Order: sequence, then structure tokens, then C-alpha cells
Amino acid sequence: MPSQGQGVWSTRFIAAALILALPSVLVLAALAVLTDLSVLDAVLGAVSAAILTFLMLRPLFNGLRSVRSGLDEMSEDPEATPVLRSASPLAHEVWAAGTRLARASRQRLKAREAELVSARAVLSALPDPLLLLDEKRRIVSANLAAAELLGPRLADRDLAAALRNPTILAGADAVLAGAPGRVVEFDLSGPVERHLSARIAPLNPRTPEGAVAVLTLHDFTALKRSEQMRADFVANSSHELRTPLASLIGFIETLRGPAADDPQAQARFLAIMAEQAGRMARLVDDLLSLSRIEMNEHLPPTGQVDLASVLASIADALEQRAASRGMRIELTFPSGMPRVAGDADELSQVFQNLFDNAIKYGRLNTSIEVRVASSPRILPGRPAALAIAVRDHGEGIAREHLPRLTERFYRVDVARSRDLGGTGLGLAIVKHIINRHRGYLDIDSEVGKGSVFTVHLPVAASSPAGVTNP
Ligand SMILES: Nc1ncnc2c1ncn2[C@@H]1O[C@H](COP(=O)(O)OP(=O)(O)OP(=O)(O)O)[C@@H](O)[C@H]1O
Ligand SMILES: [Mg+2]
Repeated sequence: MPSQGQGVWSTRFIAAALILALPSVLVLAALAVLTDLSVLDAVLGAVSAAILTFLMLRPLFNGLRSVRSGLDEMSEDPEATPVLRSASPLAHEVWAAGTRLARASRQRLKAREAELVSARAVLSALPDPLLLLDEKRRIVSANLAAAELLGPRLADRDLAAALRNPTILAGADAVLAGAPGRVVEFDLSGPVERHLSARIAPLNPRTPEGAVAVLTLHDFTALKRSEQMRADFVANSSHELRTPLASLIGFIETLRGPAADDPQAQARFLAIMAEQAGRMARLVDDLLSLSRIEMNEHLPPTGQVDLASVLASIADALEQRAASRGMRIELTFPSGMPRVAGDADELSQVFQNLFDNAIKYGRLNTSIEVRVASSPRILPGRPAALAIAVRDHGEGIAREHLPRLTERFYRVDVARSRDLGGTGLGLAIVKHIINRHRGYLDIDSEVGKGSVFTVHLPVAASSPAGVTNP
């Protein structure tokens, strides 16, 4: 290849020199014919003109040849830095211009490459899964979120291998066939069903890798769940209110009609009505209390609470009720118990609910043991915490119910809880108050033996951290 190139260059060089010398040769020939210039002088002149042209053209030609091979070398290896060896100033100027051009295009190329790298980094960091598809519906590339959702090694596989949903495949086929972009919603089955929406849009122009469409997925499971929870909450609240309301309406009609002249029935019905009205009032109070706590949940309380006196006063207040079921509330505190960071009213609501449950669901003639100790659980940003355990000896709660106990209106035995006057909001209130206090609630229970509800609360900053367990 170089010798062939050299041969071409030599032929070109001789041809160019001859063409440039030709006018002088022709002029000399004309002078020999038309004037008295001797043929020998004319031939000598022509040969001299040709030699001079050769000599003048040689460095320029050699220079241009080196420029060309230098530029060839640079296009083959962008990092090469060839040196021009030529005596021709013109060749040097062309070389300088050529290398400037090469450098500028190399910089532009680097800038494009950097843009491509950052565009890929942005795609891979997108929180939503993203797939690029070619016209045969093959996955050209996928970002990290897509690999997390659909599994690794997605590239080069058909979309159907990653997402087996007919709706989304039909949508992708339509867009690949030229239809406008679209959004389709679908459910992804698995251990936990997920609700997703897929946006499929054509890519114009196609990417250098051959992708002609982009598919992005958005997981709206959390939104759908919270919508469902909100709808359930509204349905549950109205159902809970409607039951006592229906009974009140029924009794009012009875009092106006059949029982209008029956003072004994009236007294009995009014007692039931008062109970139902009280139940409605309790429900409304609990709902208001829950929404108030939720509103402030992001703001931790600033006060300090002496739990010993809070627990003692609740135990006093509930003593009668406990005694009516043959029960006793036994309190055990460590010596030198530190204050906890909190709101006394809210904490008293927490323990009222837990004591109330222990009385309601504990067995007759058993004791309720309330024990305060140092908490083994580290609460974030807090040096120490107290664990307040409320133990009853009741029927206990089956394991499958434990994770749902703090949901609003969740009851293990709905009819029984209602009969006992419960709204099913007690533990939901407890959970939100504890959350606001940046604490934890642990529930442990054994069917037939009883339950332990343990509240972990951070110790107030200025209180001594350690407690002596009794
Ligand atoms: N100590 C316990 N032992 C057995 N089951 C319990 C205990 N505490 C709560 N539960 C179960 O958890 C459910 C939810 O309790 P929660 O305190 O939220 O509602 P409630 O007691 O029914 O009503 P409310 O507290 O509004 O009067 C109860 O209905 C009951 O089934
Ligand atoms: Mg309760």
C-alpha cells in the first residue's frame, strides 16, 4: 500500500511538473519556428525549464505527501501526534490548518462522548424503570431501576421475556408499528401484587444503538394502597357511626309509637339510647383525636414527663373498673426513674388505652402487670430509652393479627369489641402518639396465655440516662 501510494504520487508529480513546464516548452518551440532561435537553444531552454519546474515542485509535493500521511495517521489513531518533515512553508501551513481542524473535531467528539456518558448516567439513575426498544421489540438497554424490578440481563431479550403482560405488549407493538405514544396500566403479579403504568413513546430519531421506542414504568402501588385505605377509612367510619345511629332512630320511633305510653319500656330504651349516643360521641372524639395527632406527628413533643405519676394516676382511675372484673393493676418502677421526652396528656392517652385493653381482654380475676425498665432498643439520636410493658393474662392474640392491630378499626373479634364498647381506634391512636414521641411499640402475645404491649420511649435529654432495673 505505501509503495503503491508512492508510485501514484511519483506519477502525479511527474505529470504535474510536465504540465507546468509545458507552456515554457511551447513558447520556446514557437520561438524556434518563428524566430531565428536555434533548435538546440530551444531544446536546451525547454530542458532547463522542465528541470527548474521539477526542482521547484519537488519540496511542495513531498510536503503535501507528508501532510496526507500525517493526517491519515491521525485519523487512524486519534491520540497520534505525527511530526511533519518538509522544507515547504506552504506544506507547513496546510499541515497547521489540518491539525487545527483535527484537534477541533477531536474535542467536539470528546464533548459528544461526555454528553453520551452523562445521558446514560442520568438514565441509569432515574428512579423509574426505563427500557429502550428496537423495531423488533427487543430490549436495547435498561436502567438500574428496570433491572431491579424485572431482573438482570434484560438487554437483547424480547420485551415479552421481561414483561409478560398482554396489554403492555399490545401497546408496545402498536407504537412500534407507527401509532402515537400511549400510557397503559397493568398489574404485576408476584409475592406482592404491584400496580404499574407504562408510558411507551416513539423515539425520533432512533438512538445510535438502534432504539426506536422508550418504555418507562411508574409504580403507583403505594398511591393505590393509600387510596384504598382512605376509601376503607371513610367506609369504616360511616359504618361505625351508622350502626348506633340506626339504633337511635329505631328507638325514637318506638318511643313515639308503641312505647309512647309505657314508662318502663321508655326508661329501658332511653338507657340503651344514652349508651349508643355515648358510643357515637366516643367514636367522634377518637376520630378527632387521631386526626389531631396525625397532624402534629412530624413535630416531636418538647415537654418532659414523669411517667411514674402518669401511670399511677391512670391505675387509680381504672382501679374500680379492674376491680369489677376481679382484676388488679400492679405497677413496678425502677428506682430513680428518669423523665421521658413527651406530652403528658398524649402519654396518658397511650396508657389509658393499653390498660383499658388489658382490663377488657384480660381474664377475670387475673392481674395486670405494668413494669418499667431500661429499654434495650437504641432509639435514633437518643442516648437512652425506657420500656414500659403492660402484661395481661387474657385470651391472647393469634400471630397473624399482630401486624394489623394498630390499623384503624382493626379488631380481632369485631362483634365482641363492639359489645365491649370499643371503636377499634385505640391502638391506632397509641401508635401515632408513640410515633410522634419517636418511640416504638412492641406487641407480643400467646393465644391462651395473654399479651404484652411494650412502649419504648426516649428519655428526656436532661434526665440521667441510666436506670436501675428492679
Ligand atoms: N390486651 C389485648 N388482648 C387481646 N386482644 C387485644 C388486646 N388489646 C387489643 N386487642 C385486640 O386488638 C383490637 C384493637 O384494639 P383497639 O384498642 O385498637 O380497639 P378496641 O379496644 O376494640 O376499641 P377502643 O380501644 O377504641 O375502645 C381489639 O379489638 C382486640 O381484638
Ligand atoms: Mg382499645
